[in-house]
Amino acid sequence: MFRFKTIAFLIIVVAMILPACAPAAPKAGLDCAPNCEYKDLVVGFLQTGSEGGWRAANTGSFKETAEQLGLTLKFYDSKNDLATQVAGFNQFIQDDEVNVIVLAALETTGWEDVLKQAKEAGKIVVIEDRRIDAPEDLYATYIGSDFALEGRNGADEMCKLLESMEGKNVWELVGNVGSSAAKDRGQGFREKMSACGIEITKSQTANWSITEGKQVTEAWLKETQDVQGIFAQNDEMGLGAIEALKEAGLKPGVDVKILTFDATGGAFKSMLAGEINVSVECNPQLAPQVYEAALKAANGEDLPAWVPSQEGIFRADDPNLPTIAEGRTY
Ligand code: AHR
Repeated sequence: MFRFKTIAFLIIVVAMILPACAPAAPKAGLDCAPNCEYKDLVVGFLQTGSEGGWRAANTGSFKETAEQLGLTLKFYDSKNDLATQVAGFNQFIQDDEVNVIVLAALETTGWEDVLKQAKEAGKIVVIEDRRIDAPEDLYATYIGSDFALEGRNGADEMCKLLESMEGKNVWELVGNVGSSAAKDRGQGFREKMSACGIEITKSQTANWSITEGKQVTEAWLKETQDVQGIFAQNDEMGLGAIEALKEAGLKPGVDVKILTFDATGGAFKSMLAGEINVSVECNPQLAPQVYEAALKAANGEDLPAWVPSQEGIFRADDPNLPTIAEGRTY
């Protein structure tokens, strides 16, 4: 009996001591929590690299807002190369000054290891613009578009545009392979296109670029002119396709309907000229939300896993388009 009591007592003592020995869960937030301010944030921003008007507006949003808020921004240009972007991520993990890392991911995969290392190093990570395939507990939050929804909306718009046309052959100009924007817009469009009998008869990446958009479309036009719609995953590739169509003697917006994504200034100019028919907006001005989320995380506050961007759809046949265009800031 005495032995039993001794063992029971020892078990109780150990159970009480153990929690005190276990390594403390990483403290939520930065050392300045819960009173961190924007001036305490040193943000390492991993941008994709230059792509077009949208990317320039996104970069501008981060640089201008950092100045306005008085936080320190270390800007990293990944030159559209995934290995370079991962190397930049590691660089920011090693950088003792950096306490927040913001990632605009070139591709959805390949991030788990560096995210784990960043967490162990006590860095706050915020994903912006493009989602990634990694466990949500490895980053504070994702702030960006619902690209699949954009794709579904795009298909609905293309169905309306092709209503009066006999054929429903659509050519797809894809963004950079592996990015969530390209994957999800394509998947979303395919989810809805059969509703009106659309067929994607050609699909190829043009890397978000106006030059490649033109080259790819030119090559297709040499094979056939049996196309009724162009599904360009951003404005620039759509503007390239328009040049190729015109050189082939086709009337963009009339003979061939043009759907793009982003709704940048270039798209508005083209819609007012009746060439792009519809542009589905993708909002590049994400910095204020991203920095606000980073500050909340710095102060140990919980954040939703995803903060979707608020976006619209713009149509060339909208009588208010000229007025809307005047009010655009990118
Ligand atoms: O991730 C958003 C996409 O990236 C935009 O639609 C495109 O223009 C940019 O390059």
